[in-house]
Amino acid sequence: MGESNYRCGKDRRVAPLDRRITDDSSTHFRRFKNISVSEKILNTCLLVVIGIGYLVALANLYYTHQGHDGKPGISVHDVMINYHGEPGHTRLGAAINGPMEGNLKYKSDKNVILKWIQIGAPEEEYNDHVATILNRDCIICHAPEINPSLPNLTNYEGVSEVTQAGGVSLPSLIRVSHIHLFGIAFILFFIGRIFLLCDMNVIVKRVVVVIPFAAMLIDVMSWFITKSLPSFAYVVVASGALMGVSMGMQILISLYQMWRQPKEEAEVSIQATTQETTV
Ligand code: HEC
Repeated sequence: MGESNYRCGKDRRVAPLDRRITDDSSTHFRRFKNISVSEKILNTCLLVVIGIGYLVALANLYYTHQGHDGKPGISVHDVMINYHGEPGHTRLGAAINGPMEGNLKYKSDKNVILKWIQIGAPEEEYNDHVATILNRDCIICHAPEINPSLPNLTNYEGVSEVTQAGGVSLPSLIRVSHIHLFGIAFILFFIGRIFLLCDMNVIVKRVVVVIPFAAMLIDVMSWFITKSLPSFAYVVVASGALMGVSMGMQILISLYQMWRQPKEEAEVSIQATTQETTV
């Protein structure tokens, strides 16, 4: 079926040379064969940089979410803990078991902090044992005057915000969502516009341009749902993967079709040159 559609709608490369020039429909919808090499170079630069950007984004995702559950590597459980939270898994506990551990002057202080979190992070114990550790090792960075965007570890109120096991906060979900929706919509739009220049079954093409947008919307929506319903973490992972795969396919198919020289066209140009030289 795909083949017949391809023949009747798009494949004008087999049409005789004069028909290709006069046939209006051949210029109506642009395809890769209609664009200049400069435009192909520009398109390629964009697709390659976005492709690399996506891989770096994946690496960032890995480093920020891996190990929430205490095991190396990223899993659906890590995603659940991140959005929904889990008793015993606090941001402070995860930080002190992970990226912030190296900032502690004495390793034994890690257990003092973890035990304090376990007993419910009471204020009295904070004043007696924990404040001294944080003041010595952490507030060089974690003070509002120095880094307003980092958790404030200079007082009990600030520290309490990272000792609750509630998962990611609603304001920060909203912040990340709006950045994602605005930013990724543009990226998908530009990738999709280039992808539309491919030669393929039109129905497939129409569906394929919509998939990454739909997947992104489902992904962002399921972050919010996972906050109350942890098993939705599977939807977060599946829709995120679908967005990545569909975007990657669009990039690869576009690059392939853009730079491959169609067989028939190559033959036509060879015939044309041999005719010219023999006449
Ligand atoms: C050299 C600066 C620096 C020092 C010292 C430092 N941190 Fe951090 N901390 C950061 C930065 C930057 C981030 C944000 C990036 C990240 O999450 O890795 C952060 C993030 C955090 C977070 C939030 C993680 C999250 O869930 O978003 C916690 C909790 C934390 N640090 C605790 C600590 C503790 C406890 C100490 C002291 C033992 C400490 N930090 C010392 C720079 C520092």
